[in-house]
Amino acid sequence: MTTVTHPVPTSDAIATPWASEQTITCRDDRVGLRAIIAIDDTTLGPGFGGVRYRAYPSTEAAAREAQRLAAAMTLKHALAELPYGGAKSVVVLDGDAPAPGSPERRALFARFGEMIARTAGSYVPGVDMGTLLEDMQTIRDDGGARAFCDEVSPSPFTARGVYAAMRAAAVHHHGEGGLSGLRVVVQGIGSVGEEVARLAHGDGARVTLADIDTARAQALATELGGDTVPTEAAPFTEADVFAPCAVARVVTRDSIDRLPARIIAGAANDTLDSPDCAGALQAAGITFVPDFVANAGGVIQVHGGVAGWSPEETLAAIDRIGERVTGLLAAAEAEGITPVEAALRRADAALGRTVVR
Ligand code: NAI
Repeated sequence: MTTVTHPVPTSDAIATPWASEQTITCRDDRVGLRAIIAIDDTTLGPGFGGVRYRAYPSTEAAAREAQRLAAAMTLKHALAELPYGGAKSVVVLDGDAPAPGSPERRALFARFGEMIARTAGSYVPGVDMGTLLEDMQTIRDDGGARAFCDEVSPSPFTARGVYAAMRAAAVHHHGEGGLSGLRVVVQGIGSVGEEVARLAHGDGARVTLADIDTARAQALATELGGDTVPTEAAPFTEADVFAPCAVARVVTRDSIDRLPARIIAGAANDTLDSPDCAGALQAAGITFVPDFVANAGGVIQVHGGVAGWSPEETLAAIDRIGERVTGLLAAAEAEGITPVEAALRRADAALGRTVVR
């Protein structure tokens, strides 16, 4: 029998106590498995959320990330009116990841699948950072767990939802012209950001693009007749709309006074560095569309596949993100609260409890 020694990071805590409905640790030294499954809330259905496969500085950091991302999935599904709860798992990477298709990788995800199967369907995994479609197929076929293994990339659908959200916010501010004539800065020209830029351009916006891969940003800018800025300058570039589509926490408390855009709507999860940024943005006259509302197009598409929706039904459901944003912005204005608070109140009502602010 092979025993894989696996000196995983340790610390005194595995998680924030009671942060989730269930937090499950998984270990099997024969395949080098250390994983954490966080099932945040199953009020609305089984907890659906991706499997993240990466290194962590400590066990606690891994558990916290699983719990935090699981809670965000609860909000995303509740606001998108999908029949899922929120969950997420992390598989702790130690050293280099085994190559796709290798027996080691297959053994790891098969074993993790067996452990997921023990949740009896309360946790349904999908692809996330570091995992591949074939890992989900292993979890399903060898591990015997339910897993979402859609072969269609969610990114264009996520982009369509972000565009719908951005457009709704623009109409709220500027009237029916939508994005026409507005300047939109997109940070992160990856699989989502590129499509967001194309959709905004197609709607008459002037686009400014930023990516650490400057050649990528420049190529698209040339094609769309836009320009580029260094990535760290993107939030501070003169614009009507800022669309963060790369990394988390780009809006910090002390940067808000320097943000020229009056609308922030993008795909990146956790755009706000801290919860108090929502109020500070509002005080500065900036409309922030909650990321967990704007970036739900991908999960809506996954659900459309599971539910057997036609392509038209799926696209219509994604486009309703725009109507949802219109409703949230109107409610926020009427009640004198932030759009984030308006969204959280909707989640409270759907879940029958007060979610953590
Ligand atoms: P991606 O990996 O395809 O693209 C990310 C892009 O951002 C790359 O072009 C990369 O070079 C660039 N980048 C990385 N760091 C940067 C920085 N500091 N400044 C500027 N650019 C930087 O990722 P994808 O799929 O387009 O996702 C973008 C964001 O949206 C991520 O935060 C992701 O978590 C989030 N998201 C994506 C969904 C999807 O369906 N793909 C669904 C929901 C959220």
